[in-house]
Amino acid sequence: MSVLLFGFCFPVTLAAQGYPPPVRGQKEIRSPHNPNIYVRYKNPTSEICRTANTKQKQFTGHIHLPPMTLAPVQQNYPINTFFWFVEAQERPESAPLTIWLNGGPGSSSLIGMFAEMGPCEAVPANPNSITTRARPFSWDKSSNMLFIDQPNQVGLSYDVPTNGTVALLDPNGTYRPNTTAPTNTKYYGDLGYTDEQFANLGNYSNIIYRIALLNGTFPSGNKEFTTNTTEISAMSAWHFLQAWLVNFPQYNPNSTGINLFAESYGGKYGPKFSTYFEEQNGRRETGELSKSDTVELHLESLGIINGCVDSAIQTPSYPKYANANPYGIKVISDEVRDAALNDYSKSDGCLARIQKCRTLLKESDPESFGDSNTVNEACDSANTYCNYIRDVYRASGRGYYDIASDSKDPFPYYYYLEYLNNATVQEAIGTPVNYTQSNTFVYRAFDSTGDFVRGGEVEDIAYLLSRGVKVSLIYGDRDYICNYMGGEAVSLAIDYPDKAAFKAAGYEDIRVNSSYVGGQVRQHGNFSFVRVYQSGHLVPSYQPETAYVIFDRMIRGVSIATGNKISRSGSNIYSTTGPADTNTTLRAPDRLPPVCFVRETSTCSLDQIFMIGGGKGVIYNGVLYNSSSDYSIPAGLGIGSGNGDGGSSSSSGSSSGSSRGKGNTGSVDNNSKKGDSAITLDARRASLLALALALAICIGDL
Ligand SMILES: *[C@@H]1O[C@H](CO)[C@@H](O)[C@H](O)[C@H]1NC(C)=O
Ligand SMILES: *[C@@H]1O[C@H](CO)[C@@H](O)[C@H](O)[C@H]1NC(C)=O
Ligand SMILES: *[C@@H]1O[C@H](CO)[C@@H](O)[C@H](O)[C@H]1NC(C)=O
Ligand SMILES: *[C@@H]1O[C@H](CO)[C@@H](O)[C@H](O)[C@H]1NC(C)=O
Ligand SMILES: *[C@@H]1O[C@H](CO)[C@@H](O)[C@H](O)[C@H]1NC(C)=O
Ligand SMILES: *[C@@H]1O[C@H](CO)[C@@H](O)[C@H](O)[C@H]1NC(C)=O
Ligand SMILES: *[C@@H]1O[C@H](CO)[C@@H](O)[C@H](O)[C@H]1NC(C)=O
Ligand SMILES: *[C@@H]1O[C@H](CO)[C@@H](O)[C@H](O)[C@H]1NC(C)=O
Ligand SMILES: *[C@@H]1O[C@H](CO)[C@@H](O)[C@H](O)[C@H]1NC(C)=O
Ligand SMILES: *[C@@H]1O[C@H](CO)[C@@H](O)[C@H](O)[C@H]1NC(C)=O
Ligand SMILES: *[C@@H]1O[C@H](CO)[C@@H](O)[C@H](O)[C@H]1NC(C)=O
Ligand SMILES: *[C@@H]1O[C@H](CO)[C@@H](O)[C@H](O)[C@H]1NC(C)=O
Repeated sequence: MSVLLFGFCFPVTLAAQGYPPPVRGQKEIRSPHNPNIYVRYKNPTSEICRTANTKQKQFTGHIHLPPMTLAPVQQNYPINTFFWFVEAQERPESAPLTIWLNGGPGSSSLIGMFAEMGPCEAVPANPNSITTRARPFSWDKSSNMLFIDQPNQVGLSYDVPTNGTVALLDPNGTYRPNTTAPTNTKYYGDLGYTDEQFANLGNYSNIIYRIALLNGTFPSGNKEFTTNTTEISAMSAWHFLQAWLVNFPQYNPNSTGINLFAESYGGKYGPKFSTYFEEQNGRRETGELSKSDTVELHLESLGIINGCVDSAIQTPSYPKYANANPYGIKVISDEVRDAALNDYSKSDGCLARIQKCRTLLKESDPESFGDSNTVNEACDSANTYCNYIRDVYRASGRGYYDIASDSKDPFPYYYYLEYLNNATVQEAIGTPVNYTQSNTFVYRAFDSTGDFVRGGEVEDIAYLLSRGVKVSLIYGDRDYICNYMGGEAVSLAIDYPDKAAFKAAGYEDIRVNSSYVGGQVRQHGNFSFVRVYQSGHLVPSYQPETAYVIFDRMIRGVSIATGNKISRSGSNIYSTTGPADTNTTLRAPDRLPPVCFVRETSTCSLDQIFMIGGGKGVIYNGVLYNSSSDYSIPAGLGIGSGNGDGGSSSSSGSSSGSSRGKGNTGSVDNNSKKGDSAITLDARRASLLALALALAICIGDL
């Protein structure tokens, strides 16, 4: 290991000056109906994303939609939406198609692919190289999988590639277009600051953009060059899928249908996109859309994982969960809870403001195009107010995405951030832009319209059920940010003909395998609400087997509790039986040892931030160590056997690779948090706030 020591070096150095290599060798197919719409793609080998079966084909690329494709929406910019498609492990020609969307808004769906349930995960190969290995319970066991980075500018999607820099210590976690990293002022020491001055800088922003910089190429960062409401994003997604399915018809499952799974802010994307797809199908039937120029999107299932579906319904669950949860972790007192609930319900409180936003919306922006100032302001202000209630939790220092962790949660591990910024990988998948996992500009664009609280999702879910679409609301019970109590409240609020029958169904154990109960479910026919035990926000990362089993049963339309065949229509619709509440109490697992990922500094301590800013320590695979002799990798991440231990740190891995949901079942670690929810950026900001470094710059939209 002695060879490894070259002091502090950024994880860069491969491509010239840190810009992605030129994109070459893509196939291009123009849409038969509109030659200005085209697909450019490559087919990377399983060397890039190792799959269970090397025959599985993969396609990566972009679908280009020219300006004004979304007219009458003023889309004065090109949309280039990135996708990564992987065939199912078996019989891809007859497998269903599942679309995966992460949330944010602004989070990349490659989080799901690399850190949740995609075919592969990124793991260290040696101190200077990251590789991938097949994931044991990846969802391509049951389905063709299509990961889409949306809306525009998220992840590897872009409008106009623009050179810029990332400041690793930027509390806003974003890139700055049209800037170049200086060659000789990398560290605050170089700028003449001592540790002490650095720690006490009132005006941190002044220096933060001059240290720890990486060059790269990014989307423009212009917040007008992305869709800024979920409704407009649905239009963009529909056009994307039209082009995608025309070019890859062999994966359009005309009989088994398409499943849409969405997480976190996907609690809004999922219902609204699905509804728009159904409405477009309807327009094809009435002749409003040409049947020959469009394809039907035959939607079979909508799965929502830890969804923030409706703030009006879910906000009270924040103080409730913070005060009393299955883990017996009391984060706030009864008094603080009651005060927060009062802020929710009082006459000018959160709920009243949301209602005002929605009333104005109906009058002045019924299509939610985000172009009425009155509506934008009312909705944004409601959201800002309601977020104060949510943030009663902040002082706890616990992870927003996992109450068992603290806010500096390394799980699920962030090696993919490094991997997707490796020139070899970029070249293989054909991306002209660097990878960022969450896009602040997009987040702000949605924030500016108050999209978070506009509502309509609950009605959409009722509508989808009426159209015979199966819907499942799936919640890990250690998550705070879109917690299961709020999710249960959403499930009971869906106003559809079987509402009472759904409510009357009891909670039944989910038998994952012969020895493990993974949670509880209330299911009535096509609709279900699931509580997953011992899981934070990103359910498949914490409980890979349980998440996979739920997914597989859901898309096959069988009982989620048992996997048995059920009746979903007629006079004898299947209902689960059991208690009316899900009251299982559990023990929180121990926290995971910290790991400081330099591209996700919310995982780093204040001392480590000093090290990064001061150019001290060594970085291997994007992880900061005091010195080369400290190099180690987290348990369970070694390559070789699916769960081996590549020869470094402590305990043996769990059976599902890097999962970490064990808790009661006695395995190793605990702790976590992660980046794809409505509050990714808030949480990121919060962590630096907690460090008292960013007070001056973080008064934005909290
Ligand atoms: C950034 O790119 C510029 C040229 O565009 C180069 O001079 C500089 O060394 C690069 N900096 C880093 C940190 O790679
Ligand atoms: C962009 O990608 C290049 C590899 O092509 C890498 O060297 C550079 O560090 C990346 N920049 C950022 C900000 O991730
Ligand atoms: C980039 O990936 C290639 C192929 O896996 C690997 O050989 C190389 O070491 C990686 N570079 C870095 C800086 O990780
Ligand atoms: C970014 O800068 C590099 C190095 O100067 C250059 O080769 C590349 O064309 C630039 N890319 C864009 C999109 O401007
Ligand atoms: C970056 O530079 C381009 C080209 O000069 C310009 O069109 C664009 O507006 C700039 N972007 C920002 C965010 O300043
Ligand atoms: C912070 O830095 C900016 C940019 O250098 C400067 O314009 C501003 O006046 C500074 N603010 C304070 C409070 O020092
Ligand atoms: C679905 O139908 C389209 C149009 O008829 C056809 O091109 C495609 O091959 C079909 N897909 C499958 C998986 O059979
Ligand atoms: C949202 O996007 C629409 C369409 O591009 C635009 O008309 C509207 O002004 C945007 N709203 C805000 C607040 O930027
Ligand atoms: C449930 O969904 C199926 C399609 O998967 C549909 O045929 C059936 O009518 C739906 N049941 C009800 C009660 O809507
Ligand atoms: C059952 O599932 C649990 C949780 O995923 C797992 O730890 C256990 O090994 C599984 N048991 C069998 C027999 O597959
Ligand atoms: C079970 O939980 C519900 C709320 O989900 C609560 O109202 C009820 O009192 C609890 N029952 C028991 C026995 O703890
Ligand atoms: C960080 O984001 C906030 C909110 O959007 C903004 O007001 C602030 O200026 C940003 N900070 C910096 C240093 O750009």
